[in-house]
Amino acid sequence: MFYKDLLETISFQEESIMLRRRDFLKLVVKGAIMGNFCQLITPPLAEAVAAGEIKKLPVVMIEAGSCTGDSISLDNIWTPTFSDILSNIADWRYDCSMNQVQGMDAYQILQDTYAKIPNDYVLIVQGSMVRRDSGHYNHVAYDKGQLITGLELVRRIGLKAKYVVAIGSCAAFGGPVSGYPNPSLSTGVQNILPERRVINVSGCPAHPDWIMGTLLHLALYGEPELEKFGRPKLFYGETVHNRCPRRRDYDQGIFATDIGQKECLFRVGCKGPVTYADCPIRRWNDRLNWPIGCNTPCIGCTEPGFPDLMEPFTSHLPDIPFPGGVKVATDSIGLGVLGLTSAAIAGHAVSSLYKGRIQRNLLHSTVKRHHRPTLKKVKVSHQYKLKKSPNCEE
Ligand code: SF4
Ligand code: F3S
Repeated sequence: MFYKDLLETISFQEESIMLRRRDFLKLVVKGAIMGNFCQLITPPLAEAVAAGEIKKLPVVMIEAGSCTGDSISLDNIWTPTFSDILSNIADWRYDCSMNQVQGMDAYQILQDTYAKIPNDYVLIVQGSMVRRDSGHYNHVAYDKGQLITGLELVRRIGLKAKYVVAIGSCAAFGGPVSGYPNPSLSTGVQNILPERRVINVSGCPAHPDWIMGTLLHLALYGEPELEKFGRPKLFYGETVHNRCPRRRDYDQGIFATDIGQKECLFRVGCKGPVTYADCPIRRWNDRLNWPIGCNTPCIGCTEPGFPDLMEPFTSHLPDIPFPGGVKVATDSIGLGVLGLTSAAIAGHAVSSLYKGRIQRNLLHSTVKRHHRPTLKKVKVSHQYKLKKSPNCEE
């Protein structure tokens, strides 16, 4: 009933059961706050598919250096179930975790998709691109007596895809698989497919709504608006901090002194101020809870450089010491983490923040860390490299 009421407040295109894009965007936010986004969006889309207004989106998924966490996350859509979505909206052709056939039969479906509908399918990549020894530590298929690497297959299938979507922080930015000292020389998909724009749906794992919402936007309206790291703004447009229910504590300098407490978790390592994701409104496990709701800090799992740049997880970093209280300040703090600290932060901090309770509660708790990796700048913003990685052949 609740969902029905919400659906009645949105409009459909004239003489069509298709949603207008602005209503789709409304549902992305309202659905997160009020219910399950996929549950709201699926019925009208299933009708539109049945009426022939849109066609099912052909999807193939390649899993490279991965823990399969994003498949598990995607399976965690409860209402509707993932199989409802497969039956009604997506033409899910190849996915090594969920194929109904195996071996060459499955691989043939991937080959047919590549050969018969070039520039019409979506390639989803899960997992990091393992580059050492030409990728031979990560085999994903076997063809005519040859082992096929993830690196080779993603490049081949990706060059002919209509859209390439990297799900999870490993596929988007290298993630934990590329953690220091990165012996496998792993990296994100964009770095091995420079010819294509890769849509990054980051997270460790990515939220099912972020994955399905991005796919649905591609099916209905094409590429969504992306932010500077190639992530859809509709899910990654705001920091966790800006929507956090503990923001009032932060602004007043009321901080938890240990994990498990109810106050703002900044002092015990929360990276919400520099992390872009809508977890506070969307939450996880069918909206049951989310990290800060469980009294543990956000560890910045959607950000480039995760996990190295977000460690230590349970103490805040010396170079993000300024609780701003306003959006511009937290955005600037985000730049600070990437080594681009602006004069604006310093001005803001000097004028208002090194005072009173914030100083007593926060700055005195700052943990000094001596061996924190730093970044060197490269031309493309989503490419980054650790400055000192003696065991890593870059
Ligand atoms: Fe919430 Fe973390 Fe920001 Fe505190 S620092 S308000 S817990 S996001
Ligand atoms: Fe990840 Fe932080 Fe959300 S750790 S799940 S981005 S609250």
